Amino acid sequence: MQQELHKMKINNRRYIGCKTKLLEYINKEVEKYHFKDGSSFVDLFAGTGVVAYYFAQKGYKTIVNDLLYSNYVVYKALLGKEKMSLSKIDKLISKFNSINSKRLQDNYFSKTYGNKYFSINDAKKIGYIRDEIETNKNKLNKREYFYLISCLIYSCDKIANTVGHYESFLKTKPLDKNFILKPIEIDSNITPGIIYNSDANLLSKKINADIVYLDPPYNARQYVNFYHVLENLARWNKPTVFEGNSMKFKRNELKSNYCRKKAPQLFDELIKNLKCKLIIVSYSNTYKAGSISSVNTISPGQILDSLKKKGNVIVKKIKYPAFNSGKTDMSNHKEILYICEVDNES
Ligand SMILES: C[S@@+](CC[C@H](N)C(=O)[O-])C[C@H]1O[C@@H](n2cnc3c(N)ncnc32)[C@H](O)[C@@H]1O
Repeated sequence: MQQELHKMKINNRRYIGCKTKLLEYINKEVEKYHFKDGSSFVDLFAGTGVVAYYFAQKGYKTIVNDLLYSNYVVYKALLGKEKMSLSKIDKLISKFNSINSKRLQDNYFSKTYGNKYFSINDAKKIGYIRDEIETNKNKLNKREYFYLISCLIYSCDKIANTVGHYESFLKTKPLDKNFILKPIEIDSNITPGIIYNSDANLLSKKINADIVYLDPPYNARQYVNFYHVLENLARWNKPTVFEGNSMKFKRNELKSNYCRKKAPQLFDELIKNLKCKLIIVSYSNTYKAGSISSVNTISPGQILDSLKKKGNVIVKKIKYPAFNSGKTDMSNHKEILYICEVDNES
């Protein structure tokens, strides 16, 4: 008999800058403005999607977006509209999990990442399952397809030979972890979202909403560098990778301009283009950080200047534990929320 698998939740994933711990704070601020039921909430740099998901569970109509396809896939699965056949999904997951990885042949994933991010056997199984999802694509609806890929992304992350991101794999040889594809919890009562995989600045010109939440990257560290293995697994174009201690593929178009010098100008343009009533911006004060890549690309003053052109701004400082790769003293770390009530005429 197939053992009942523990279901993962949307936040059961290691993602730098994930705002699970901030959800109640953000909600407390939003509630002060008494938006009516069914108002719209946009998460333009959604990452894991936990913020949009939280508001979708409260009945908000969400618009969810991220530059990375591996994040888009998860929104399509967890905030999608289509009905999924859970029995079909269960059967496929059981079938995949019953496979003995030692009997599998080498494949793209094991050749690329085996003995680096995963043991050879675990990598063979992950690559085999990803190929099988493609083979079965015509028997799945779009949401079922995205759901299975999402489960694979989350399950991989649980066993990867890393410190939590894929900038490099650990020097120690990865052990066999007997890879298991685990399901992610689906909330059948959630209000479905409208989902994009776009550049936030392009999308900002097209949307009209009540609340817009912004949580862009604020330093030189590119998210696609942190999560390239999962991005490659989701896209499955099987590109060649650069040898070395990270095995990254060519990914220039996935790099964010928010991690570059032009970030303040981009942020200003983004704010100018938004058509909404309330803007909430998350910001981490790593500005005086110790390493160059942790130095913020946008300063608190620049955020304030851009927002003040749009309306009245309130600043809330929250003590909150941050991601820190070691060189930076974060004992004074604060997460800041900027809340801007947009003037009618803007
Ligand atoms: C700080 S993280 C967001 C974390 C998210 N709030 C959460 O709780 O998981 C920033 C996100 O912005 C995305 N991103 C970077 N540049 C972008 C752009 N130009 N347009 C859309 N998304 C972008 C990154 O891929 C990353 O997922």
